[in-house]
Amino acid sequence: MSLKILMDNYRQRVDAELARCLPAPTTQPTRLHEAMRYAVLNGGKRIRPVLVYVAGTAVGAPLTALDHAACAVELIHAYSLVHDDLPCMDDDDLRRGKPTCHKAFDEATALLVGDALQSLAFQTLAQSHSVEMINVLATAIGSRGMAGGQALDIEAVGKSLNLIELENLHIHKTGALIRASVKMGALAKPNLSSDILQALDHYAKCIGLAFQIQDDILDETTDTDTLGKPQGSDRAHNKPTYPSLLGLQGSRHMAEELIDNALNSLTIFDEAADPLRQLAHYIIDRKF
Ligand code: IPE
Ligand code: IPE
Ligand code: MG
Ligand code: MG
Ligand code: MG
Repeated sequence: MSLKILMDNYRQRVDAELARCLPAPTTQPTRLHEAMRYAVLNGGKRIRPVLVYVAGTAVGAPLTALDHAACAVELIHAYSLVHDDLPCMDDDDLRRGKPTCHKAFDEATALLVGDALQSLAFQTLAQSHSVEMINVLATAIGSRGMAGGQALDIEAVGKSLNLIELENLHIHKTGALIRASVKMGALAKPNLSSDILQALDHYAKCIGLAFQIQDDILDETTDTDTLGKPQGSDRAHNKPTYPSLLGLQGSRHMAEELIDNALNSLTIFDEAADPLRQLAHYIIDRKF
């Protein structure tokens, strides 16, 4: 099956799950629930849920054991974007080609959308009855994971970071959730060997960093219509990025090396891991 068809299938699967777990827009408080649905059900690529499914099926986990983790990771991602776009953070007006949550609603509602989506994510993940998965997700998004990375990102505005500092920032703000997605997929299959777990984790670390490098490249090179958010916004906001440090060519080269490295760690897997391999290529070939 082509990666596109596989991704479409998994997207539909997680979208159905997301629509089901989000409170109806008619449920009180209606404005908050409308805004939560607006922030989640608006056409993201769903890469993190796809990673949960693709990592899980590579090690033989059934799809039904992956649904809660897939749904939870996307709820966390959606919350992180709502807060990321706030005026006190990146101050963006457009997300996925539409007004950002605080523009379509208001800032207080957007703040609460983030709070409520984070809570809903853990409520959903708890249905998997896996304390390990809950631990992995909680650790990945806290002050030593995604939230910590966002703190570094805000501190870095207007500063010039060196490559190690920028890598540290990217690994936390974006890499940690991607790594958690792969790990939760693997945890859906009990008793995997440490070789397999380590190989998957190495793959996830590499693609997680490559994903944010590609995000930085696209911010610089892609028009607003295609990207669904403003082109050149990182530069306008004085954010240190891979293109600002290494140039576009250097950034592309680094992303390619990371993908090669990710693929090398999959040599112990058979063709069940082919979607993981294809996804690694997609991460740096994607146009938005
Ligand atoms: C954008 O993530 C924000 C980052 C963490 C780099 P995505 O590119 O996955 O955004 P959507 O969900 O597809 O819109
Ligand atoms: C977002 O990174 C990271 C998180 C939301 C945790 P960016 O700020 O680079 O994402 P975009 O470019 O706004 O999508
Ligand atoms: Mg940001
Ligand atoms: Mg942003
Ligand atoms: Mg960006």
